[in-house]
Amino acid sequence: MLSEEANQQIQALMSKYPQKRSALIPSLLLAQKEAGYLTNEIVCEIARIFDLTPNEVYEVATFYTMLYKKPVGKYVIQVCTNISCMLCNAEKIVEHLTAKLGIGFGETTPDGKYTLLEVECLGSCGTSPVMQINDAYYEELTPEKVDQILDGLG
Ligand code: FES
Repeated sequence: MLSEEANQQIQALMSKYPQKRSALIPSLLLAQKEAGYLTNEIVCEIARIFDLTPNEVYEVATFYTMLYKKPVGKYVIQVCTNISCMLCNAEKIVEHLTAKLGIGFGETTPDGKYTLLEVECLGSCGTSPVMQINDAYYEELTPEKVDQILDGLG
C-alpha cells in the first residue's frame, strides 16, 4: 500500500500532463522507490489511480528494466551488453562481475547486497563499456575499475 505522501506526489505528477497516463512511468518509479519493487498490490493500486487495468500497468512495468518486478539488492548493477559495449569488452566485465559476485543476470546475492541485470543501451556508447549502479553511471570499465567501484560502495 502506497503512503499518503506517495499518493499526493502521484496526483501532482498526473496534474502536469494533459493525459494522466503520461505520468505512469514516473509514478511507477516513485512507487518503486518507496516499496523497493513493484508488488502486485502496487500494480493494482497504480492501475486504480490511472483508471487502467492491472494488466496495462504490468505491461509497462515489464517492458522497462529500471522497473523491478521482484525484490532487488541494495545495489542494482545494470551492465550494458549492447553493440558498442560488446565491442569494447563488455563480456569481460560481465565475466568479472558474475565471478566476483557469484550470481548471474537477474539474480541477487544471498546477503541482499547486489542484484545484477543485463540491459540494452545505457545511452553512453561513447564511453563503453558502461554499467549503472542505482542512479550512478560508471564508464570506460575494466575489471580493475569494477573492483575499485565495488570496494567503494562499502
Ligand atoms: S551500447 Fe552500451 S551504452 Fe550504448
